[in-house]
Amino acid sequence: QSSTEIDISAIEPGMAIKASWQKQPVFVRNLTPAEMAEANAVSIGDLRDPQTLADRTKPGKENWLVTLGVCTHLGCVPLGAAEGENRGDFGGYFCPCHGSHYDTAARIRKGPAPTNLVVPPYEFTSDTVIEIG
Ligand code: FES
Repeated sequence: QSSTEIDISAIEPGMAIKASWQKQPVFVRNLTPAEMAEANAVSIGDLRDPQTLADRTKPGKENWLVTLGVCTHLGCVPLGAAEGENRGDFGGYFCPCHGSHYDTAARIRKGPAPTNLVVPPYEFTSDTVIEIG
């Protein structure tokens, strides 16, 4: 199927879920205000793949970070979407294959990955449901 609906109503701030879309893992994360502030405090010029949190989220819903769970280095599934997993040095996601660290906006900050985790095409179909694809 080309699109996938995900109910996000049970994802509390600070938590994330893993879903799948077109056979790829997708992470949906409800960022806390502190995590959003951390992402927004970074100078864009310091980023390998310069994007703001706003560039990577929907207007008015900047707390919802939706990305593919596929490291942009060689395609491993990063850690950090499940409770208690290592989120790396920048509090987002960590790819243990070769040590890529992503920040709270899932932007690459350290390690070999060339680009940020990819934001797939998606829309909110209500306040509590997103449709990916
Ligand atoms: Fe993630 Fe290499 S595949 S760091």
